[in-house]
Amino acid sequence: MSFAARVSAIAPSATMAVKRAAEELRRRGVDVIDLGPGEPDFPTPEHIKEAACQALARNFTKYTADSGIFELREAIAQRYNRDYGTAYTAENVLVTSGAKQALYHIAEALLEDGDEVLLPVPYWVSYPEQIKLMGATPVLVPTHARDGFRLRAHAIADRITKRTKAIIVNSPNNPSGATVESAELEKIVELAVKHQLWLIYDECYEKFLYEGVHVSACEFNTQRVVIVSSVSKTYAMTGWRLGWAVAPKELIQAMAKLQSHSTSHPTSISQYAALAALTGDQRCVAEMLSEYRRRREFVLKELAQIRGLECAPPQGAFYLFPDVSRFFNGEISNSSELARYLLENAHVAVVPGAGFGADECIRISYATSLEQLREGLKRLREGLQSLS
Ligand SMILES: Cc1ncc(COP(=O)(O)O)c(C=O)c1O
Repeated sequence: MSFAARVSAIAPSATMAVKRAAEELRRRGVDVIDLGPGEPDFPTPEHIKEAACQALARNFTKYTADSGIFELREAIAQRYNRDYGTAYTAENVLVTSGAKQALYHIAEALLEDGDEVLLPVPYWVSYPEQIKLMGATPVLVPTHARDGFRLRAHAIADRITKRTKAIIVNSPNNPSGATVESAELEKIVELAVKHQLWLIYDECYEKFLYEGVHVSACEFNTQRVVIVSSVSKTYAMTGWRLGWAVAPKELIQAMAKLQSHSTSHPTSISQYAALAALTGDQRCVAEMLSEYRRRREFVLKELAQIRGLECAPPQGAFYLFPDVSRFFNGEISNSSELARYLLENAHVAVVPGAGFGADECIRISYATSLEQLREGLKRLREGLQSLS
């Protein structure tokens, strides 16, 4: 069977591949500890679920406006205005089926054949594929484990060409947990303004920060900046599929046009649930953060016991991204082979760094219970030590 060329131009999601391999082993009766999850292990808070039940009871089960319900767009705009002193209105907001769809529509609205997008490494798996789907080219911007994966504005500046259309910055970063420093972000925004580029700023993990305060690119500029976020991680709502883009209204209108001919709008019930999440009690977020903090400390302490494994302490999100290249040998020469070895021999699932553009690393998620982490890290240590 043959399909459109764009299908073969992209790779399937690396994170999904690990999930499938772990599930296959489980089906064969093997007890696998999964350190791969890219989503919170907490249930969605009760008051949010209650709001969704009420939306159902009130028959909010029909089509909504294609940019999303006004109340939600307004609540999102106000949230940024309150936190960052911006002057957004509902017209600056497009509500989408998750941050992923917001990013997709941004790529569709902005990118064309031959365009270049500056993409810091390590990157979240879908960015390069979305860029390639639009006929554009991801231009990789290195960051380094020994520098805590910090993104430097000069690394961006060095790679700007006449073809550059956009820069993607993800802070806190998936997979490294690194955040961009305020001064560097300000310089990156200045570069976007000077060269008339778009800065796509993905802050999906903004509420899970262990050091410092979150800086949003919209604090510096709102004309060349597109903010992307969602309720997925913050409120443990990955399955509700609800995210947004905040941008100049002309770009929002262009994206809304695209959305109106694809999904129309996100599920009506999820929109009411997201409204409750954003406007309701925020203690649930603080509680999740405090549990992640406990787990992060535990995992960092355990990883420090593994000789040869280097791990930059992450500032945010719920991942660690250690360098495991020291364990490569004649048979295992990359992160995918190492992850497979660990899964088959130590029965612990981790995500190979290759899918994030960093083949010397693996991603370990601590969005799982302390009990699972304890056993998973024991298996990881034994698995790695059997290689050294
Ligand atoms: C950096 C980053 N951006 C976007 C997304 C997509 O999130 P959503 O569930 O809101 O589509 C993810 C999900 O893992 C992510 O890690």
